[in-house]
Amino acid sequence: MAKLLSKTEYEQNVAESRDRRMAWWREARFGMFVHFGLYALIGRNEWAMSLENYPIAEYEKLAQQFNPKPGAPREWAKLAKAAGMKYMVLTTRHHDGFSLWDSKVNPYNSVNIGPKRDIVREFVDACREFDLRIGFYSSLMDWHHPDGGRAAYDREARARFTAYVKGLNRELMTQYGKIDVLWYDVALPMETWEGWDSLTMNQMVRELQPDIILNNRSRLDEDFGTPEEHLTAMDRDWEACMTFNGISWGYVDSKQAMPYSYNAQRIIRMLNTVTAGGGNLLLNIGPAPDGSVPQEAQVPLETVGRWLARNGQAAYGVKQRTEFSRASGVCGSSREGNRVYLWNWVWPREGQMALGGFVTPVKTIRLVEDGKPIEFEQRGHRIILKNLPASSPDEIAGIAVLELEFEEPPVFHFASYFPQLHGGFDYAENGKL
Ligand code: GLC
Repeated sequence: MAKLLSKTEYEQNVAESRDRRMAWWREARFGMFVHFGLYALIGRNEWAMSLENYPIAEYEKLAQQFNPKPGAPREWAKLAKAAGMKYMVLTTRHHDGFSLWDSKVNPYNSVNIGPKRDIVREFVDACREFDLRIGFYSSLMDWHHPDGGRAAYDREARARFTAYVKGLNRELMTQYGKIDVLWYDVALPMETWEGWDSLTMNQMVRELQPDIILNNRSRLDEDFGTPEEHLTAMDRDWEACMTFNGISWGYVDSKQAMPYSYNAQRIIRMLNTVTAGGGNLLLNIGPAPDGSVPQEAQVPLETVGRWLARNGQAAYGVKQRTEFSRASGVCGSSREGNRVYLWNWVWPREGQMALGGFVTPVKTIRLVEDGKPIEFEQRGHRIILKNLPASSPDEIAGIAVLELEFEEPPVFHFASYFPQLHGGFDYAENGKL
């Protein structure tokens, strides 16, 4: 390895190359998280080994039963592509310590035991077949390695364990060609980058994969933040990771998961929130023990993909943060330069709707999916849309997107909540701004 950089030098190098490395990621917007492993056989949660206090020897027996059907990773990638997702992240080894690849460092793996297959290899091949960027999830925490717990208080154990984790990551970075994202998770029992020797580990990773993107979960900031199960924008690159049901990352019985699972409309609303906040959405599926896509995910994701095929310009590509979603109360928004996209959750019945708060002159308004112009009148802070179709023009999800093109980067000025304080929105015309 080249000369080890100090933390300051390392983070400066990372910052200097970030725009180049992150360009595709910032445009991608939407990815698929895949949590697949022995825990799928239990079907209650990927933390079952810990939360249900499984003795290690009892949990290990699951590996003998683990037998995903051939082509399972290809099914995941095919659905991700159909959903309009641009990248995937697979749990190569979760907290239970079982590696889904041909590891020499970790004999407890899917080539030595159970399916006798390199699932990671199948995943990588499938991503490449469907032209999807490739992400590896790599848990730091490990419930199987003998030093995974005592590393917290035993210096030698910690040295052995961090060397083990580095060895795992070296295999992942060298055995499968170009990898686009390394997605660390749960830095425990050590809780500092020094404790994990993340500075050395991540310099090794970046030396092996110079274009790779790292998340912030090895206790170094790296390239992007990872809000989990919430869509809170950050003042840096960020990606919200979300389960499909708010219950488990790993497989749970589809019949019981269905009532809690997202439909297409809720997924599109999440896409709007991350787009408006300048972030990405990494939406998870937890495949069944045989590797099948959970039934409850199939149709909603396919529907979202069809919707994005017609309205994707409102979501993909670099977008500026926007606060225009207040315009009507029933729409969300995204923004790119002089263009504001309004994602209409509810379509007006009476053929007319006003958008409040815009003070910049509008040039054109059109329906994104077919370019059809929308008649409008602009008076002061109000843009009044006229002669609208009686129902939402979007037949896929009922979410029509309007593109408002302004003369210049639009300013949004929600004068006040109180109409009586500004003469019913026309005060701009009377010069009382
Ligand atoms: C949490 C959970 C882990 C899951 C991860 C996904 O860290 O502990 O099981 O893989 O979230 O972000």
